[in-house]
Amino acid sequence: MKEKISKILSQLTLEEKASLCSGLDFWRTQPVERLGVPSVMVSDGPHGLRKQAGVSDQLGVSPSIPATCFPTGTGLASSWDRGLMEEVGRALGEEAQTERIAVLLGPGANIKRSPLCGRNFEYFSEDPFLSSQIAKHYILGLQSQGVGASIKHFAANNQEYKRMNVDTLVDERTLREIYFASFETAIREAKPWTVMCAYNKLNGTYCADNYRLLTEVLRDEWGYEGLVVSDWGAEDDRIEGIKAGMDLEMPGNGGRNDRKIVEAVNNGSLDEKDLDKVVARVLELVLKGVENTKQMTYDQTEHDVLARKVASECMVLLKNDHKILPLNKSTKVAVVGILAKNPRYQGGGSSHINPTFLHNALEEMEKMGEVRYAQGYDIHSDEPDEVLEAEAVKLALDHEVVVIFAGLPDRYESEGYDRKHMQMPNNQVRLIEALSKVNKNIVVVLSNGSPIEMPWLNNVKAVLEGYLGGQAGGAAAADLLYGKVNPSGKLAETFPIKLKDNPSALNFPGKEDKVYYQEGLFVGYRYYDAKEMKPLFPFGFGFSYTHFEYTGIKVDKEEITDTEAVKVMVTVKNIGDRVGKEVVQLYVREVESSVMRPEKELKEFAKVELVPGEEKEVCFSLSKRAFAYYNVEIKDWHVETGDFEILVGSSAVDLPLRASVKVNSTLKIKKVYTRNSTLGDIAEHPAGAAIVQQIVEKMKELLAGSSVLDSSSLEEFAVSNTLRAMMMFGGMDEEALENLIKQLNA
Ligand code: BGC
Repeated sequence: MKEKISKILSQLTLEEKASLCSGLDFWRTQPVERLGVPSVMVSDGPHGLRKQAGVSDQLGVSPSIPATCFPTGTGLASSWDRGLMEEVGRALGEEAQTERIAVLLGPGANIKRSPLCGRNFEYFSEDPFLSSQIAKHYILGLQSQGVGASIKHFAANNQEYKRMNVDTLVDERTLREIYFASFETAIREAKPWTVMCAYNKLNGTYCADNYRLLTEVLRDEWGYEGLVVSDWGAEDDRIEGIKAGMDLEMPGNGGRNDRKIVEAVNNGSLDEKDLDKVVARVLELVLKGVENTKQMTYDQTEHDVLARKVASECMVLLKNDHKILPLNKSTKVAVVGILAKNPRYQGGGSSHINPTFLHNALEEMEKMGEVRYAQGYDIHSDEPDEVLEAEAVKLALDHEVVVIFAGLPDRYESEGYDRKHMQMPNNQVRLIEALSKVNKNIVVVLSNGSPIEMPWLNNVKAVLEGYLGGQAGGAAAADLLYGKVNPSGKLAETFPIKLKDNPSALNFPGKEDKVYYQEGLFVGYRYYDAKEMKPLFPFGFGFSYTHFEYTGIKVDKEEITDTEAVKVMVTVKNIGDRVGKEVVQLYVREVESSVMRPEKELKEFAKVELVPGEEKEVCFSLSKRAFAYYNVEIKDWHVETGDFEILVGSSAVDLPLRASVKVNSTLKIKKVYTRNSTLGDIAEHPAGAAIVQQIVEKMKELLAGSSVLDSSSLEEFAVSNTLRAMMMFGGMDEEALENLIKQLNA
């Protein structure tokens, strides 16, 4: 491949090279027929194939060819199932191959910073570990079929408001530990053919023109060898983009930027070597696309069956009082809500799939039990409709259980804009209240891509969070409601009680074209933990129709160095009476740290299936990254020597198993002492304690007789004072100070 690329490169004219740097049109790369370089086609993504055969657009307006619509990102992540993600990836790959698509534009790995982001439904999680694992396995599955992935939108693209010009201002440690981390493992370990850079600016520079992001971090540090494609229209300054390592501008620009590239090379403002690097990567993508093309067809029905299975693993049972679910075949059920009949199963914008089939819950429930239906509300309006409401109340009165299908209408969530609040439409809230007054057995099934407030929660017995379940979401909801499948999804995001509880509330979506991520590392559960704040539903949470017991945590070593790994074994048993799957979650907590750290962080998870009475040992391996934080001084991950707690259980707030391990750092970070080091800093130096003691004694002498500070408060007072201040309080002169600093740094 390398030789072939060099050969083509040496034969290309400057104009041809420039032409390869952007698309032929909306979806295809530029060919060079003279040299036998063909054109390959890319298409959205992420949870299905959106191949537009006719008019092209990026908003999902013009129809695309039918393809399987899987649950959107939010749902996929709630499965917490790596194997299932590979299955989805493989199915997407088969469909893309069938349609001769070289690259599918997904997955979306941006962190859910605020519940309001209009594209949250496409993204996976508030937690970078979970997000990156889900992304990794989606990519592995997809690329196993010879179709490239495009992990997007790199980086820190966490809102739609001003998405094309907002400057996202994030400190380095937060970027590394949260926003980059969501991409890093997926990129390092699954090697996506392409990375799509985001629209926004990151710390002052457009992502598309960002050398630090696209070359220093992505390629130099993470060893990425694939291609960077711009989000559609994200390129601001093509010449800067080329210098930064932004390879393929999409869509095509009608030759405008080609001329600029030629001119820049000719006038010396762009080095042709930089251009060659970009062109080589475009050629490599095209050749890879062609080489991997397989003659393929797929069975739409089989993929539809898979979509149903996937959807049933993605939905999360949030409440189930008095075991009202699963429903009995013979129970008389009133189904209320137009969403039972006309499901909302995906979000708006570029990810909009034209499904091969569409299952609604009502039809499926009719096959499983005794069901009657009422519409309940008008989905196109927020205002209550008295007639529809009265009909629903009448139905609820003479049925044993009422299942209400509620959620967010299309207009509430889409690419291109953010939500303004977390509420459901008023008419749906009112309907739930009205029905719960006449019937005590209310079950709510939700269709939404992101958390909502639930002021009615105490008045209902069960809530099934269906998310946007894809084309078979309706059927999957019926499977779960009637217990054909046991719920096993867990929240990949926290549901706050109200919007203002969310950590980004004070700084979302920003002002004056800038958004400051001032909550830093404290995104999602990291924040609720730190504030000891109870959310509506915590991260990692979800009920099952059976119960699991956690016992016997073991570690294979009690002490390791940061170059070793520790194994953690736990036993999980199904103590209920149904087959079920449990997501075992492992969090790590540093007991004491000299830097600010979240209370705990997710570092591993596994989904296990158990029949009643069965128990399994689940084994995890933790190495350096599980214990490390990003140290901005040394520009690397660092573990401080110390004790760590390993917490295992079924959600971020239910972690019954605890073990300890001591990790010893193999890196000694040399501390540099200056006149502005505090006595507290100095006390940590091997000879420091004695020095500090001497200074304090001296201070005591000088302050003898003072009534303000007694001996112990004087010691506390000294800790935060600098050496420089000792010339004032400690009777030290300039020369003594300089000598002391030399001695400490020696
Ligand atoms: C979106 C991308 C998408 C592209 C092509 C952009 O507006 O942000 O996610 O892949 O359009 O449709």
